[in-house]
Amino acid sequence: MAVPREQRTVFGEVADAYERSRADYPAALLDLIAGYATRTPAEVVEAGAGTGKGSALLRRLDVPLTCVEPDPAMAALLARRFTGDDLVSVVVGRFEDWRPPPGGVDLVASAQAWHWVDHTRRTDMAAEALAPGGVLAIFGHDYGFADVGLRTAMDAVYQRYAPEIADLPGRPVHTRHPGAFDPQELRTAPGFTDVTHERVVTVVPYDTARYLTLLSTFSPHRMLPEAQRTRLHVALADLVDTHGGVVAHELTTWLWLARRRGPAAADRS
Ligand SMILES: C[S@@+](CC[C@H](N)C(=O)[O-])C[C@H]1O[C@@H](n2cnc3c(N)ncnc32)[C@H](O)[C@@H]1O
Repeated sequence: MAVPREQRTVFGEVADAYERSRADYPAALLDLIAGYATRTPAEVVEAGAGTGKGSALLRRLDVPLTCVEPDPAMAALLARRFTGDDLVSVVVGRFEDWRPPPGGVDLVASAQAWHWVDHTRRTDMAAEALAPGGVLAIFGHDYGFADVGLRTAMDAVYQRYAPEIADLPGRPVHTRHPGAFDPQELRTAPGFTDVTHERVVTVVPYDTARYLTLLSTFSPHRMLPEAQRTRLHVALADLVDTHGGVVAHELTTWLWLARRRGPAAADRS
C-alpha cells in the first residue's frame, strides 16, 4: 500500500528552489541569541537544518555545529554548502532520533522547523539535549506584505483558486501546522526558564518569477493538487505583474529563547 505523502516531507521535492528563494536569516538574530546566552556555546545542534539557511547563521559562532535534517535532498544541499568545513557535521535523520552527547550541548536551535518535530516530545527532547544553563533558540520568518492593497487582492485570488489555504497567506507560518509552536510549551516546561521573544523586521523584494518559486516551496501550496496549484500560481503571477512585478515581503523574523534550568532548579519544579 502506498504511504500517504506527509506535509513535513515535501521540502525535498523542491530543494533547489527552496535554497534559491527562501529568505536568509538576518545577522541581528545571532546577536540576539549570543546576547541572551550567558556563555559562548561550546557546541550547537540544529533541528531541521534544511539546505542550511539557519545553519549559515549559527556557523558564525565558530564552534562545532551538528545539523540534523531528515530529508535526503535537503541534506545533500546542506552537506554541499559545508563541504570541507570541519566544524559542521550533517546528520541525516529526524531530531527525534538524534542522541545528544553526554553532558549535553550549549545551544539547541531550530529555524522554521520546530513545528515539524513531534510536538508531544520536542520540549523534553530539547531539555535533555541541553547542558544546564544552555539555550533553546527557535526562530523563523513570517512572510508578511508591505503593500496592504496587494495583500488584499491576493486574498481574493486565494479565495477563488484555493479556498482551503485562503486564510493562510500573511498569517504567521508557525501557526499554520498541527505541530504549531506555542510559547506556552516553554513557559510551562519544568526544564526551562527565562522564556522570552524577539523579532527583526526587514523588507525583501521578490520579482514575479522568484515569488512563484518561493510559493512553490511553501508546504500548504505543495499539498495542493498540481493542476490547482498551477492555476493558483498563474493567477497570482498575473496579479503581481499588474502591481509592478514586485512583491515587497515584510519579513518578520521571530525568535523564541529559553534557558535550560540547572539540576537544582529543575528538581524544585
Ligand atoms: C521549512 S524547512 C526549514 C529549513 C531550514 N532550517 C531553514 O530555515 O531554511 C523545515 C525542515 O524541517 C525538516 N524536518 C521535518 N521533520 C523533521 C523532524 N522530525 N526533525 C528534524 N527536521 C525535520 C524538513 O525536512 C525541512 O528541511
